Amino acid sequence: MDWSQDQLEQYNKDGYLLVKNLLSSSELNALKSDLPLLFDATDDSDGAHRIREKNGAIRQVMLAHRGVESYANIIRTPKILNPIKQILKNDVYIYHSKINAKESFEGTVWLWHQDYGYWQYDGVKPNLASVMIVLDPATINNGCLMIVKGSHKRGVVNHYPDEVTTSYKQWCIEKKLLQKYIKEENITHLLASPGDVIFFDCNIMHGSSHNMSPINRHTFIIVYNSIDNKPVSVANPRPDWVVSRQFDIVK
Ligand code: SIN
Ligand code: MN
Repeated sequence: MDWSQDQLEQYNKDGYLLVKNLLSSSELNALKSDLPLLFDATDDSDGAHRIREKNGAIRQVMLAHRGVESYANIIRTPKILNPIKQILKNDVYIYHSKINAKESFEGTVWLWHQDYGYWQYDGVKPNLASVMIVLDPATINNGCLMIVKGSHKRGVVNHYPDEVTTSYKQWCIEKKLLQKYIKEENITHLLASPGDVIFFDCNIMHGSSHNMSPINRHTFIIVYNSIDNKPVSVANPRPDWVVSRQFDIVK
């Protein structure tokens, strides 16, 4: 279940690694078949936190792993947990998890950012990593993840808060820096199939486009934090659904 030295080196060099077919079909089917339950709930009494697009479609469901068995199981599968512990070189807890729905025709853009562009204000060091589990085909048309290979090596660059483009405040790379860092020839589209898993660094520059396709682009993203990187106190701490105060080591 551990990654090879080559896989680790590739991750460290590129800032991400796409592992094909990591999930079994039963793991994948379990996650997919629990989506209607999560999407159709009319309130958050199940402990999840839902964010909608301006058009009303579900954009994100946060914390599915706390209440739904298939999601609780997948965050601890050794296929994911072992490499994460190799990457972060420590035991880990869940910083948050999110289903990014990006529904057919309605799911909207994630502007260019580094995740640490958000998390730098949460009182943590950049020792976090994300795992995107691909639940539907991820294509150019439905807004697959786009990354700039190796861009994590710059460390965090200046971000600004965008509160107009979508329903959710996004911290985005400053416009003048976009011209400098996001060159057309350096954009990689991570085309992927259901069951593929993308591991990525908290400083990789990434984003994704509107879903212009008739197929959904559902993904589940787990953010792991090193257990020695719990948030220190900051002004205006963000809520538990995005900066978890549950520090149980994932086993
Ligand atoms: C996306 O769902 O395409 C964006 C994910 C992210 O920003 O982490
Ligand atoms: Mn992100």
